[in-house]
Amino acid sequence: MPDYVRLLRREDIDQVVEIDREAFPTEWPPPNFKRELENRLARYIVACNAEEIVEKPEEPPPQSSYRNVISKLKRLFTGDKQPDNEQPMNDKECIMGFAGFWIMADEAHITTIATREAFRQQGIGELLLQSILDMAKQRAARIVTLEVRVSNTAAQQLYAKYGFNQVGLRRGYYTDNHEDAVIMSTDHIASPSFQAQLQELKKAYTAKWGADRYPIVS
Ligand SMILES: CC(C)(COP(=O)(O)OP(=O)(O)OC[C@H]1O[C@@H](n2cnc3c(N)ncnc32)[C@H](O)[C@@H]1OP(=O)(O)O)[C@@H](O)C(=O)NCCC(=O)NCCS
Repeated sequence: MPDYVRLLRREDIDQVVEIDREAFPTEWPPPNFKRELENRLARYIVACNAEEIVEKPEEPPPQSSYRNVISKLKRLFTGDKQPDNEQPMNDKECIMGFAGFWIMADEAHITTIATREAFRQQGIGELLLQSILDMAKQRAARIVTLEVRVSNTAAQQLYAKYGFNQVGLRRGYYTDNHEDAVIMSTDHIASPSFQAQLQELKKAYTAKWGADRYPIVS
């Protein structure tokens, strides 16, 4: 099932909003993803499942314009419908999770990360986080930061696994229930020690989930 990560596109937004609603039911409205796509400071990525792609049928061999006119005339006189392969096709991929971050000066700030509930604990969150760490380094970020609910231990464990430490607390940060946010941050992501740890995690990830998955580096 090769899963892969690519940049968010406009046509992904419906699926991403669906995942956002499932993951953050009390945080409404969802981010304005259309606006985020135009935000120069923001980067959003999606993890996709290629098996869900509906392949388009092969293009019919090109016909000469003479044959095109003949077949159109035939359809006109016989009342035949257009051939099936001229119907519009649904070519959506299944989006399993998404994440976003903002680059602000030398800091990449993760604004969101979520995996579709049906695909949780299958390595998708890690794949997204690896991609963000690679992209942040390419954009010369020094550190990666985020806020996470005090009660969200699953997410905190994911971040801790990838070298994020608790560096502060924002009291009553979440408006729905006034829950505190833990502020987490990496060390310098380009440092040899951080990169060595990341390479080890990527190796362990490949050993666990197979080599078919590949994060983007762009
Ligand atoms: C947090 C979240 C993105 C993790 O995604 P995921 O695809 O399930 O995560 P993965 O399968 O890649 O798990 C990677 C690591 O995350 C941690 N983790 C994930 N789910 C966990 C759980 N239920 N309990 C404890 N740790 C968990 C573990 O450290 C795990 O590594 P391990 O397998 O070596 O133990 C997912 O639970 C989610 O979408 N939650 C709702 C949205 C959310 O809270 N986002 C974070 C906002 S700050």
